[in-house]
Amino acid sequence: MSQGSDIGLIGLAVMGQNLVLNIESRGFAVSVYNRTSATTDEFVARHPGKRLTGCHALPDFVASLARPRKLMIMVKAGAAVDAVIEQLIPLLEADDIIIDGGNSLYTDTERRDAWLTPLGLRFVGAGVSGGEEGARKGPAIMPGGPASTWGVMQPIFEAIAARVDGQPCVMHIGPGGAGHYVKMIHNGIEYGDMQLICEAYSLLQAAGMDTDDMAAVFEQWNEGELQSYLIQITAKALAQRDAETGQPVVDLILDKAGQKGTGQWTQLNAAENAVVISTINAAVEARVLSSQKAQRVLASRQLQGPPARLAVDRATLVAQVHDALYASKIVSYAQGLDLMRTMSDKKQWALDLGSIASIWRGGCIIRARFLNRITEACQADPTLGNLMLAPFFQQVLNRGQMAWRQVVAQAVGAGIPVPAFSASLAYYDSLRTERLSANLLQAQRDFFGAHTYERIDRPAGQWFHTDWPEVID
Ligand code: 6PG
Repeated sequence: MSQGSDIGLIGLAVMGQNLVLNIESRGFAVSVYNRTSATTDEFVARHPGKRLTGCHALPDFVASLARPRKLMIMVKAGAAVDAVIEQLIPLLEADDIIIDGGNSLYTDTERRDAWLTPLGLRFVGAGVSGGEEGARKGPAIMPGGPASTWGVMQPIFEAIAARVDGQPCVMHIGPGGAGHYVKMIHNGIEYGDMQLICEAYSLLQAAGMDTDDMAAVFEQWNEGELQSYLIQITAKALAQRDAETGQPVVDLILDKAGQKGTGQWTQLNAAENAVVISTINAAVEARVLSSQKAQRVLASRQLQGPPARLAVDRATLVAQVHDALYASKIVSYAQGLDLMRTMSDKKQWALDLGSIASIWRGGCIIRARFLNRITEACQADPTLGNLMLAPFFQQVLNRGQMAWRQVVAQAVGAGIPVPAFSASLAYYDSLRTERLSANLLQAQRDFFGAHTYERIDRPAGQWFHTDWPEVID
């Protein structure tokens, strides 16, 4: 007699369906449940001969699973996850494992963990990255939750995850909400990468390059240091023609960016923890401003600026933009890592940043060649304060910084917005400035609020106040 399915999956939207097919293709039996039974029946009928058990009712679904039961929820993040959990609780037994594979906010995952643990159930918040194709062929998976769940989940997770150099792109990230937290940071970094690429595109376009020229540039970049999934799809997107009009598709797409919220969550978390993630912030804000199209159209007619054109040698510009993009990307990852390190210390998650960079090399949206370098840097110096100071990255930044400045200066001169390039450069320059202008800021604080200041000619920790002159309005 069969002992039951190896795992059950709830929620047969596209990601759920693809994950089921991936899991089944690796030799596991999967039970499936969807709120609308017709979807379950259609899905199972469309895949005859596979080890799938379609269930119409949750009690049957739960009863169909081998113990400890492993139930993966793939429904919309938020209230729907809680609703499914509520229904499952009375049906489950001690040690069963509920896995939430959606883009849940990590604090929701912590709340669910605290809710389920006293009931004897185990909860795994697992970030899953890679979109539909990744879910089917091999995503990067970032599971958190109790360490005891890893041994149970490892065979399935490792079988379905993407692989790079033979290594599966999955690891136990840490307790509680750590998995979903790291997925959130992944998404914040994804926002940064995407915005930086868009700024590169806007500069090449301003130099008169057409979409085919630009597709060739991105294709060429994808052969080198910038090799990444996002550069690769950018080349393909630029080359794509609209079937109806024959025009480049990108030229026909309205310039209003959407966002589901993970970038904003990252922003909020950084603000709460006083960590600078200016590249990601710029990327999120660029999306927000892009969405205010009507106001931008109005402003474009009323506020003046130079013509957004770059009269420069194209080959030189391409080389400069390459360096600016690479350097800005390094800053963005340095900031993302800084935030993860800060939270890891605060929450005692013991995040292994080098290994996290390593599982991001495959399956996920930010997969890229240079992640190897981050892993190497973290392993070479586990106490490394800022990624930018690792010898390899120092050398890339020192080599590219002049071109980066030229790119930002040319963009500013031509009135072309490059918020993420310039925020990254400002971070770089702030970090390497030994004496910032904050001395004056401290004087201002002491002037109006007697907040006191430290002096450069006295030991740190001694606080001084000046009797500033009275201001007569
Ligand atoms: C991934 C993606 C995926 C999704 C995000 C981004 O890692 O597979 O990040 O999770 O595309 O939700 O969506 P928005 O751009 O709409 O925020």
